[in-house]
Amino acid sequence: MISIAILGHGVVGSGVAEVLDHNAKGIAAKAGDSIRVKRILDLRSFPDLPYADTFTTDFNDILEDDEIRIVVETMGGLHPAYDFVKASLLAGKSVVTSNKELVAAKGDELLAIAKENNLNFLFEASVGGGIPILRPLDQCLAANEVFEVAGILNGTTNFMLTKMIREGMSFDSALALAQKLGYAERDPSADVEGHDACRKICILASLAFGKHVYPNEVHTEGITDLTEEDVKYAAACGGVIKLVGRATRVEDGHLFCQVSPMILPKDNLLADVNDVFNAVMVRGDSVGDVVFVGRGAGKLPTASAVVADVIDEVKHLHARKYLFWEGNEPGHVRDHRLAPARLLLRFACEEDAKALVQIGQVFGDVRMISIPDAPNNEVAFISPSMPEYLLEEKIASFTGMTLVRRLRMY
Ligand code: HSE
Repeated sequence: MISIAILGHGVVGSGVAEVLDHNAKGIAAKAGDSIRVKRILDLRSFPDLPYADTFTTDFNDILEDDEIRIVVETMGGLHPAYDFVKASLLAGKSVVTSNKELVAAKGDELLAIAKENNLNFLFEASVGGGIPILRPLDQCLAANEVFEVAGILNGTTNFMLTKMIREGMSFDSALALAQKLGYAERDPSADVEGHDACRKICILASLAFGKHVYPNEVHTEGITDLTEEDVKYAAACGGVIKLVGRATRVEDGHLFCQVSPMILPKDNLLADVNDVFNAVMVRGDSVGDVVFVGRGAGKLPTASAVVADVIDEVKHLHARKYLFWEGNEPGHVRDHRLAPARLLLRFACEEDAKALVQIGQVFGDVRMISIPDAPNNEVAFISPSMPEYLLEEKIASFTGMTLVRRLRMY
């Protein structure tokens, strides 16, 4: 029997305990040994649970217990999760975590400590919840030169956008419902401002391209100021708005990495991914495009990925797994303004005719976009593709026209 501990008994931690209990027999068969949750760390007590006597509020009860071989961290947040995970690895315990904030900020350091100590540090649940993506990216697609990883990486915002688009629900009601269903982060600004998706694209980019990418290197925009009109304009362009995390590798080996709302054409493989579903698309030179879709948030889908990592670690208690990347290299991620972009641009103007002449002079032939009930004196068009800083210079050169909105086209 292998003893493990779970740090945190929130949505994910309680799901892990539930799945381990509910599927105990099958899990033991797959792991080659039975798994016992010996300790659960939480500041709260849960006297009515059948496993109430496993709870402790003191991390040392876990750290100093040599019988506990694997620590599962589901607390979220950077501290004290980082301190507990690092201490666990240094004490010779393998770790599984679902904590994307931790992996995005400290993954390189924790992977190196695990490697030095011949231990495993696995985090499949940190990206895409229940979707198997990190192992497939690392193992099954290993033959490829990957040049892009892009995805709908936040279930809360995808759920909210779906409700807003299909049911006309307000931003606040959609967020309240996502929180009620347990999808949102404790601080939902991490969801709606794009930081959660940013952490996930950092993890994907680090794994796909081999060097740690930190969140502060990723240009990040959220969905807080999207309006009904943006949704209609996206439809008029033949697409749909999604919050997309994207990392691309350019020929010289550098990366562009960003999170922002984007208009996806309807035939894009990510465009039809709705509700709480996440999807990750990987572009490889041999395989072409592959897409992984599934439930990206929620108790049991996330627990499913955590428990699979626990099984893997039980099977490899004395051997290291492959998952690894090198430390960060400053300058590896380029300024997003250098990346080629196509923008849907909406301008308020004094006279449509004059605006059209100016648009033609600055951008040449462009595709004009209109919606039936557009505000008066508004013109909208899709720019040609060019580095974003050049687009910004051209936009700044317009006179008698005020930029209302810019949205990236995928
Ligand atoms: N708040 C996150 C989401 C949870 O909505 O995707 C899973 O990481």
